[in-house]
Amino acid sequence: MSKPSILQKLNHPLFEQYNLNVQIKRDDLIDPIISGNKWRKLKYNLQHVQAMGFKGVISFGGAYSNHIHALSYACNKNQLNSIGIIRGEADYANNYTLSQAAKWGMNLQFVNRVTYRQRNEKKYLQEITKQYPDYFIIPEGGSNALALEGVVEICDELSHQTQYDTLMTPVGSAGTISGLISGDKNQHKILGIAILKQQGYLEEEINNLLITRDNKLANNWKVLNNYHDGGYARFTVESIKELQEFAAHTGVPFEPIYSGKMILALLDLIKSGYFPKNHRIVLLHTGGLQGLGGLIEQKKLNKDEWPLPLALQAL
Ligand SMILES: Cc1ncc(COP(=O)(O)O)c(C=O)c1O
Repeated sequence: MSKPSILQKLNHPLFEQYNLNVQIKRDDLIDPIISGNKWRKLKYNLQHVQAMGFKGVISFGGAYSNHIHALSYACNKNQLNSIGIIRGEADYANNYTLSQAAKWGMNLQFVNRVTYRQRNEKKYLQEITKQYPDYFIIPEGGSNALALEGVVEICDELSHQTQYDTLMTPVGSAGTISGLISGDKNQHKILGIAILKQQGYLEEEINNLLITRDNKLANNWKVLNNYHDGGYARFTVESIKELQEFAAHTGVPFEPIYSGKMILALLDLIKSGYFPKNHRIVLLHTGGLQGLGGLIEQKKLNKDEWPLPLALQAL
């Protein structure tokens, strides 16, 4: 991608009522499949893989992982092999996300939860490297030092696009927020919304990633841990309704696992008076709309109310 992703102003009665300026950086529009933060995080990883002459990539994910979906497609486009180590049963291979990953040539290997838990352990990774010496290992969610290099470019783009006070992002494996903190260089407030229930591990994870770019001392960021709505991929009937109304009002598509939780957090924070008058907020749309396919398939969402973007319908 040579052009910066679009920055779009959002209109909503709540923003007017509280005198707030809210814009959204539409990284979801960068590419229909390698969408949002996946594009940013994979860009320099894949360049590295090609420059170093690796045959392929190995990575990790859950059964509906956005990262696995995007990675398999990106590898296919770049004539690279890909192996996905997936948490769970082999039956998942037929689901919305993984059937597409398999179609794009990813070799899916299913492991139980105990094995999956070792995904960041040195010994386990050494065993994998021994078995696949020509493959580069990318951690779960694509969050490593090379990912930060790609995410930093969001800050560079924003510096030419607008002036703002707070930049908000959903947080999972922490690569995205770490890249934003690193690229921001203490100029704005960076506010992360944790979408997982395990509290407290994220700060350490972020600091570990920041060290890779010498940014350990950044102090302009915060992760809010109380907006997970019950845990990963969980949501209440009320929150789904509120998100749907917001999406209909703004015309921007969201999914309820990542960007949706950021939106619900934003609305709650505004109502609780968190942002001062005239505050300028930029939201990062991190994509992940393929996740709707899995939620519809599992009957957690209704496809008439949560239509997949056209490009994904065509897959
Ligand atoms: C759509 C989407 N948004 C946000 C995130 C969270 O990003 P990170 O894992 O870098 O914290 C993810 C997970 O990678 C994701 O798939």
